[in-house]
Amino acid sequence: MEGSLMARDRVGLQDFVLLDNYTSESAFLENLRKRFHENLIYTYIGTLLVSVNPYKELGIYTKKQMDIYMGVNFFELPPHIYALADNVYRTMVSETNNHFILISGESGAGKTEASKKVLQFYAVSCPSTTLLHNIRDRLLLSNPVLEAFGNAKTLKNDNSSRFGKYMDIQFDHRGAAVGGHILSYLLEKSRVVHQNHGERNFHIFYQLVEGGEEDLLRWLGLERDCQKYRFLVQGQCAKVSSINDNSDWKTVRKALSVIEFSESDIEHLFAITASVLHLGNVHFEANFCGYASLNSCAEIHWLSKLLGILPAVLQEGLTHRKIEAKAEEVLSPFTVDHAIYARDALAKAIYGRTFTWLVNKINESLANRDSTRKTVIGLLDIYGFEVFQVNSFEQFCINYCNEKLQQLFIQLTLKSEQEEYEMEGIEWEPVPYFNNKIICDLVEEKHRGIISILDEECLRPGGATDMTFLEKLEENMCGHPHFVTHKLADPKTRKTLGRGEFRLLHYAGEVTYCVLGFLDKNNDLLYKNIKDVMHQSKNPIIRHCFPTTEPDSKRRPETVATQFKNSLAGLTEILMSKEPWYVRCLKPNEGKQSGRFDDVTVRHQVKYLGLMEHLRVRRAGFAYRRRYEVFLQRYKPLCPDTWPHWRGTAAEGVEKLVKYLGYKPNEYKLGRTKIFIRHPRTLFATEDAFDVCKHELATRIQAKYKGYRVKGDYLKQREAATKIETCWRGLQARRERERRAWAVKVIKKFIKGFMTRNQPASFDNSEYLAFVRNNYLTRLKENLPKSVLDKKTWLTPPPIMKEASELLRKLHMRTMVRKYVRGITAQRRAQLQLKGLTSDLFRGKKENYPSSVGRPFADTRIHEQDINIKVLQVICQEGMKYGVPVIKYDRNGFRPRFRQLILTQEAVYLVEEAKVKQRVEYSSLKGASVSNLSDNFLILHVTCDEIRQKGDLVLQCDFLFEALTKLCMVTNNHSIVKVVQGSVRFDIQPGKEGFVDFKSGSESMVYRAKNGHLMVESARTKSR
Ligand SMILES: Nc1ncnc2c1ncn2[C@@H]1O[C@H](COP(=O)(O)OP(=O)(O)OP(=O)(O)O)[C@@H](O)[C@H]1O
Ligand SMILES: [Mg+2]
Repeated sequence: MEGSLMARDRVGLQDFVLLDNYTSESAFLENLRKRFHENLIYTYIGTLLVSVNPYKELGIYTKKQMDIYMGVNFFELPPHIYALADNVYRTMVSETNNHFILISGESGAGKTEASKKVLQFYAVSCPSTTLLHNIRDRLLLSNPVLEAFGNAKTLKNDNSSRFGKYMDIQFDHRGAAVGGHILSYLLEKSRVVHQNHGERNFHIFYQLVEGGEEDLLRWLGLERDCQKYRFLVQGQCAKVSSINDNSDWKTVRKALSVIEFSESDIEHLFAITASVLHLGNVHFEANFCGYASLNSCAEIHWLSKLLGILPAVLQEGLTHRKIEAKAEEVLSPFTVDHAIYARDALAKAIYGRTFTWLVNKINESLANRDSTRKTVIGLLDIYGFEVFQVNSFEQFCINYCNEKLQQLFIQLTLKSEQEEYEMEGIEWEPVPYFNNKIICDLVEEKHRGIISILDEECLRPGGATDMTFLEKLEENMCGHPHFVTHKLADPKTRKTLGRGEFRLLHYAGEVTYCVLGFLDKNNDLLYKNIKDVMHQSKNPIIRHCFPTTEPDSKRRPETVATQFKNSLAGLTEILMSKEPWYVRCLKPNEGKQSGRFDDVTVRHQVKYLGLMEHLRVRRAGFAYRRRYEVFLQRYKPLCPDTWPHWRGTAAEGVEKLVKYLGYKPNEYKLGRTKIFIRHPRTLFATEDAFDVCKHELATRIQAKYKGYRVKGDYLKQREAATKIETCWRGLQARRERERRAWAVKVIKKFIKGFMTRNQPASFDNSEYLAFVRNNYLTRLKENLPKSVLDKKTWLTPPPIMKEASELLRKLHMRTMVRKYVRGITAQRRAQLQLKGLTSDLFRGKKENYPSSVGRPFADTRIHEQDINIKVLQVICQEGMKYGVPVIKYDRNGFRPRFRQLILTQEAVYLVEEAKVKQRVEYSSLKGASVSNLSDNFLILHVTCDEIRQKGDLVLQCDFLFEALTKLCMVTNNHSIVKVVQGSVRFDIQPGKEGFVDFKSGSESMVYRAKNGHLMVESARTKSR
């Protein structure tokens, strides 16, 4: 909105500091007006915020607006109360110091509204937790409750604060609002019993009557009609269009429960509120003696019920006064006027004290129970300067309070600022301003001030009256430029002053006060007996508000004005210890109208609020100043020369720092103890740089810290590793030592065992022997002979194992044999049986037998297909068993001929091609002879009875052993074969014999010897 309009002339300047003609009041007003008509109610003078009451809703206090202003540099956005609030908050968080916002302006200028906006902003913008939500809600909701009890419609403002309020909002180190505390200042109690025309009593009365639930009203004895209550109708404006009592009532009810008011607290509080209304209706009449008598049974009934006091006691208290005469107490009856006075005093006291209780109760609920250090932002919203047709003691106090605040403002801005420049030796042309100290002194000076004189009159025994007070004033203040009375005035002024009046020339204008009631109001007397009556109350709030012995009951209590003066001094002290921020509220017109900018009204306020002077000082001065030490401490990280340590003086450090930051000479000045920076933007730039730098520093610190932590961890781990290593090595070494000791023992035992190995088993050698046994058996297991024929492989046993070894060897052999036997096939078994038979026949008998052992036997050497068919036909009926080629030697002449020798089931056949040359039945086979030498001759001896019959057969066969074994098998006669030596006789034919001689020679030969014998010479076998 404003941003887009910036360029346009009609919007004006958002900071008066930028005003060309900054000394011109008209230019100032013109700028304000321009902005006001554009609904831009806020304008800055540096960091001071000027606010003009728009008297209408502008829609600039939304959550969206709050978000816009949150965390943004002050001058970056159009002026706003949120910008100020945010700036205060951020300064507080970053500098961890306390601040306060002084909101000033005359009645109806918008102070209370501004303070509420600030509070709402903090409620939304500050970090929060569920726990803190409670505090936040209570802070917010304390407002409607206090406003209901402490605000009222006046002629100036429909929601005028009738008490001063200073609220501390407490923040923890993270910037979260964690608590609050409220100080209240002098409530305008007289309003309870009297309202000027056009004004109302405190809102709560109307809210209760208008909004209170039927049941509640019935219980309180109230009727829903304000006109019924004297305390509500004096101003003749119980109903106001701008105020909705009904809905405000609901807000207050809700707020009370949020601020931890119990149901009984609430009941008692409203009982008191109602009792004040009933008290207002108590009516007195003069009895026959002229004393006051009560004529209000109903009221007394309700008062008695609501306050929990017996009616008679109450009645007595309201119509009598107790006088202590020596040791006696005497009841003195009131006149009607006196009774009315006492009644009103009681009503004011009840309301005033209940209000104090209320503030304390709210404080209890806002109290932060955590004792860690807090920073605070104080919000001061006090009743504004006001001038009515008739001004009384209350206006005197209110205006005095505003005078004090103006004085504080002057001190903190104009005066101290200029004094500071002077002190710091900064070139400076003083700006003249009006210092209202003279007025403050006029009011508060000890012994001479108005308050002192008033107190004196209040104390003075004898006939002190309001008029004597005025006379005293005239005596003392005569000639004071700010004080005037009818008597002291020049003739022209005298016309405007009544005789019972005095006029003060306040900083904000003239106010004429009517002295009537000053003494009474200042005394604020309440008779002791009515206090005692109140103490008997069953209503705990009342009982609490009227303790038996009031503090300092012996001493005369401080007067109201003095109390107020002291509390303001306390407030000034509180504020002086904090950093100030200002909101100056202006009223655009006296008629509470929106859109009307009344030049005269505004000009007057601008003048007395000292805004022009402030602007002049701002323009000529410096926006920011800090002690060198503080400035250096904060910003030293921005310059390598000053970070982390600066060894020289702080002033030199700051000089170095600002040079490094590139400050231009006209942007800053170096004083004696402080640096002064002219424009906020320079500081903001520095702040921004610091913000960036802070992150870098944080990262560095973080890195260093992490490094430190990790290094620590590493060292710890290393130490632990070394420890573990040491322990482990120790353990290893111990184990090694144990092993060695064990080994020594074992070796010793071994040697001893070895030495005694041949002795009978004993303790010394038993282990050794067991070892030897074990060792031998283990080795034996790995080195067993693999075949039956392997007779050599057998580990030589140690002596003790000899016997066992032999048994094992035999066992192993048997196992191998068994295994071998189990492994042989039926065919091979048959073969082996044959071989066994051969062995039985020839082993050790015939020289060439060993060479035959390795040659396997065949079933036959001649197969059926190799036999002539004719022959086959002959022999097949007998079943052929075996056939083998042979050389047959003629019985005569010994000529060799190739023949087939065939064994059948029944006979031996000698076959020549297709012819069976000779058939010898087994029954006629007498035997077979072979030599003992290495030839392969065999002679078959045949029974030869007939001459025709062929004789024995002399045959040579390559498969001699096989053929003969087969023959034994077929004939089933194992003794058929004979091994002979030398020569074999054979029958050529019956009666004719021949011989075959065998001998061994160098080579094998067969020939007919000279003696007619067949000589078979066989080569000698090499070894046997
Ligand atoms: N910023 C605003 N926006 C809209 N209306 C406002 C604003 N400020 C004030 N008003 C109006 O002006 C009225 C008076 O304001 P407020 O009660 O804040 O005055 P005050 O300065 O506290 O006066 P007093 O000194 O009497 O307490 C408010 O009730 C409201 O109607
Ligand atoms: Mg107010």
